[in-house]
Amino acid sequence: MSQNKKIIIAIDGFSSTGKSTLAKHLAKEIGYVYVDTGAMYRTVAYYAMKQGFIDENHFDKEGLISDLDKINLSFKFNASLGYSEIFLNGKNVESFIRSIEVSNMVSKVARISAVREKLVEQQQMMSIEKGIVMDGRDIGTVVFPQAELKLFMTASAEKRAHRRYKEMIDNGVKIEYESVLENVTSRDHLDTTRADSPLVKAADAIEIDNSDMTVEQTYALAINLVKEKL
Ligand code: DC
Repeated sequence: MSQNKKIIIAIDGFSSTGKSTLAKHLAKEIGYVYVDTGAMYRTVAYYAMKQGFIDENHFDKEGLISDLDKINLSFKFNASLGYSEIFLNGKNVESFIRSIEVSNMVSKVARISAVREKLVEQQQMMSIEKGIVMDGRDIGTVVFPQAELKLFMTASAEKRAHRRYKEMIDNGVKIEYESVLENVTSRDHLDTTRADSPLVKAADAIEIDNSDMTVEQTYALAINLVKEKL
C-alpha cells in the first residue's frame, strides 16, 4: 500500500489477544516498523532472573534498579522472519523470553517505575521517524498519547488461555491448560491494578473484542481502520 502520511499506530490490550500478530501484519502491509514492547519488559525480567534478582520467593528490586544502566536493549530486523528480534547486551534472547518462567515474573518487573521510565524513554525515541506500529499495555496512554490510531484488544480469559496453550503445545512446550489460564488471569490482575501505567483503554482508542473472531477477521477490521487514517 502506498501512502504519504506517516502515522503512529498504538495497539494495547490484554495478553494473548493477538496484538503482536496483528501489529506485525499491519506493519508489513503498510511498510512500517513494528516494535514489540512486551519483549522489552520480558528481556528485563529475563536479565533479573539470570542475575538472581528475582525468583518465585524473592525480588531484590533495588539490585535490579541499580543494574538498569547495564541493560542494553536493541532490535535487529531479521529479514527471513520479516520482523525485528530483541537483543540483550548484544545477544539475541528471543528464544528465552517467551518461556512460562519469564511470563510468570514479567508483571512484577513491569510494575517498577524505574524500569518503565527507562523503557518508555527508549520507545519514544523510536518514533522520531513515525511510520511505527507499537504494541504493549500503555502505548496509547503513556508512550504515545498523540498516536493517530489507537486500538485496544480484548477477548475472554478462557479464549486467550486456549490460544496461548495451543501455541505452546505446537512449539513442543509441555504445559497444562490450567497453568496457562492461571498465568493469563494473574497477569491481567497485575497489569490492570499496578499503580504506574496500568493497562487501561485510552479514551480515544477503538476497542476490538476478538473472542469470536479469527486472526484474519481481526486483521481485516484493523486494516480498514488504518486505511481511514492514512
Ligand atoms: O505483551 P507481552 O505479554 O509479551 O508483555 C509481557 C508483560 O510486559 C505483560 O505482562 C505486561 C508487561 N508490559 C507492560 O507493562 N507494558 C508494555 N508496554 C508491554 C508489556
